[in-house]
Amino acid sequence: MRTNQPKTTYLKDYRVPDFLVDHVDLRFELYEDGARVHSTLSMRRNPESVDSRGALELDGDSLKLESVALDGDALDTAQYEDLGDLLVIADVPDAFELQVVTWIEPHNNTRLEGLYKSSGMFCTQCEAEGFRCITFFPDRPDVMARFRTRIEADKSSYPILLSNGNDIERGDLADGRHFVTWEDPFPKPCYLFALVAGDLVEKRDNFSTISGRDIDLRMYVEPRNSEKCEHAMDSLKRSMRWDEEVYGREYDLDIFMIVAVDDFNMGAMENKGLNIFNSSCVLASQETATDLAFQRIEAIVAHEYFHNWSGNRVTCRDWFQLSLKEGFTVFRDSQFSSDMGSPTVKRIEDVTLLRTAQFAEDGGPMAHPVRPASYMEISNFYTLTIYEKGAEVVRMIHTLLGPELFRKGSDLYFERHDGQAVTTDDFVKAMEDASGRDLSQFRLWYEQAGTPVLNISDRYDEQAGTYNLTVEQAIPDTPGQEDKRPQHIPFALGLLDGSGNDMPLKMADGDDDAPAERVLELTETSHTFEFNDVSERPVPSLLRQFSAPVRVTYPWTREQLQFLMSHDSDGFNRWDAGQRLAVDVISSLVGAPDKAEIEPRLVAAYRHLMSDPSLDQALVAKMLQLPSEAYLIELADSPDVQAIHRARERVLTHLAISLREDLLACYRRIDCTGVYELTPVAIAGRSLRNTALAWLLHIDDEEGRDLAVNQFREADNMTDRMGALRALVNSGFAADRDQVLEAFYQQFSDDPQVVEQWFSVQSSSPATGGLDQIRQLMAHEAFDWKNPNKVRSVIGVFAGQNLATFHAADGSGYRFLADQVSRLDDSNPQIAARLVTPLTRWKKFAPVHGDQMKAALEQIRDKQGLSRDVYEVVHKSLA
Ligand code: PHE
Ligand code: ZN
Repeated sequence: MRTNQPKTTYLKDYRVPDFLVDHVDLRFELYEDGARVHSTLSMRRNPESVDSRGALELDGDSLKLESVALDGDALDTAQYEDLGDLLVIADVPDAFELQVVTWIEPHNNTRLEGLYKSSGMFCTQCEAEGFRCITFFPDRPDVMARFRTRIEADKSSYPILLSNGNDIERGDLADGRHFVTWEDPFPKPCYLFALVAGDLVEKRDNFSTISGRDIDLRMYVEPRNSEKCEHAMDSLKRSMRWDEEVYGREYDLDIFMIVAVDDFNMGAMENKGLNIFNSSCVLASQETATDLAFQRIEAIVAHEYFHNWSGNRVTCRDWFQLSLKEGFTVFRDSQFSSDMGSPTVKRIEDVTLLRTAQFAEDGGPMAHPVRPASYMEISNFYTLTIYEKGAEVVRMIHTLLGPELFRKGSDLYFERHDGQAVTTDDFVKAMEDASGRDLSQFRLWYEQAGTPVLNISDRYDEQAGTYNLTVEQAIPDTPGQEDKRPQHIPFALGLLDGSGNDMPLKMADGDDDAPAERVLELTETSHTFEFNDVSERPVPSLLRQFSAPVRVTYPWTREQLQFLMSHDSDGFNRWDAGQRLAVDVISSLVGAPDKAEIEPRLVAAYRHLMSDPSLDQALVAKMLQLPSEAYLIELADSPDVQAIHRARERVLTHLAISLREDLLACYRRIDCTGVYELTPVAIAGRSLRNTALAWLLHIDDEEGRDLAVNQFREADNMTDRMGALRALVNSGFAADRDQVLEAFYQQFSDDPQVVEQWFSVQSSSPATGGLDQIRQLMAHEAFDWKNPNKVRSVIGVFAGQNLATFHAADGSGYRFLADQVSRLDDSNPQIAARLVTPLTRWKKFAPVHGDQMKAALEQIRDKQGLSRDVYEVVHKSLA
């Protein structure tokens, strides 16, 4: 049984394992009412362990132990101790074979950890600590073993039987049953184990590696999804090629398999040779998936594939090192996406997520370093900090070393540590050794939590022709960490002259021909940089490409921001200047009287963006997205959500009214009649048109309404259909809205991935009736408490995106969320703990919100039998 007395695990307590496993032989008997797991472990004492005589301890969770045998002799109950979460055998030789038989109940497994059933198929999820729900095992990533797995099941219900590696034997058994045996030649930690059994269709393709090996690529999906595999398969092949070309990494097994399952806690999982995906992160067709979904799928397929090297061949020593594989792999997949599409747009998307959600995490009660020092429940640490900030940290190393030395470093890392379980420090060491650079101060990025703030000021001396830039860094206190040391920060910048051109950046450091852009390195609390031969007062373009995950403050004028918006040679900073301008305008209206004037520069800037087709349309599409409410809240001190919501709505209304003709012209200018394509230009075109539509419907424009209804009917792809639907849902045209929502559901009710989108478009909208609407969606026939995607698309989207409703002044949104968390905690603690997130930020908000958010957390805290997952989040948030 799972214990509810949460215990904290500390990095400082790490010890090497006392026992090693050389080989694992598994036999699964799968039945409708349960599964019997026969495990044979070839084990020996670890010569490096300090305890050379200690008892054998194996982890377990929710297992029914049937028998234990040591070197062929059955043990009686006096010879071992079954403590539920631990199997202890006091007396074992130095090397031995242990046989354990357990009985488990996959059909009752609602936590979706270990072996469970999802729409009739068996599947597994073992990261981080799910393998112990299958059998007793030293469930830690530094125990790596070779696995052989035999699966037995009814042949007609489960014709497909899969596990890691190569299938080496198959055959029929009595009673209509059959078996397949798989062998994985690569030693791996048990968290990378996987098993799938089901009635699935198989899609085949192949890939020829750089050294000429032929790899079998296979996708397994439910029959109704057989037309939704092509994009993932193509993405896989592009990923395989890219990893060879950019990182010199070749695939190592003969088969690579992808399976789609409907019930999955996360996005996807990199099990060796057998990646398992949440259906929503792998299945796509033009009719059912938006452009965003196509791009997400490409990125996630790549991410899981890249793990084969960054994660599987070289894995983590312990879970404190999680970012070793996740941060690096996110960095790799974002480089890949950047190469496949528009680099600037990709950077904008990554930074938006980072600044909105990771910065919020870093400023809240669950803030933790990229390499945490402790945890209660490791599942709670699959966070934006580990993934996204971890990727930024790797990206900074890339920036500091440059692409060639970085590649040398990654080659050294893979070569030095192939087949090992290592630490983030080993990664940094490889980068240091390959480049000759000293990254000792840089390592603080792994140890210190919190988002550094750079306060920047400047002085221009016309007489001397010098320009001085002073950069001060400060890192805020976070729970358990105060008085931090300054970090090593790569700070990219340029200086613009009056006509918007980059000025040469002459510094005292030499006579090399002055570059137009520099990466300065900040290592101290304060630096002043001097630029020479500066002929006029420049406009600084700071932190180009967002070269470090920090906040920048500088007293820009609105005029300067508008100037940067149209002139900065760095596309990312053009976008960022636009965001800053919009944030400034909206923030100044928060709490202001209704007739307060709205900055005319904003209208002018947007008009320019919309009407000049010679601009990079992909960038324009991004620039026309107003900063989200979540981002505005993140930036504010003691935010009043209703006031922010109203201010943002006012600006949107003003923009839409002022730009009505431009919006209509922009909509009509973009030709979307051709065949559906996934190029950056085509994606930008659809995005622009749909933004124009959304703005027109925001002011209930009749012409806009007709365009939307028409677009909804005529659309041959989900991006346009969803764009029209979303615009109508968020409008005041109630009759049209209800009609399209109904038509949409009728058309797609048998497609769960589309129904999830249908739920989200409603649960994210404050226009459709508030909390009652959310309750109605939860009562809908398609809602399913057991399916994480449905829970996320209704409850998660409500609390994360429908902020005006969630933060209702009477606290009803908070109490509602607390109720749902408490209910969900009994069946799926991982998802329940994630749903709590919005409430954890209570200290940040104005008391109108904060007090009631806190009360909702207390309501959850007082529930009986709270899981360790939710316990940790709630208690740390209330501390
Ligand atoms: N390791 C997975 C990934 O990043 C995420 C994951 C974690 C999936 C835990 C399931 C459980 O790709
Ligand atoms: Zn990952």
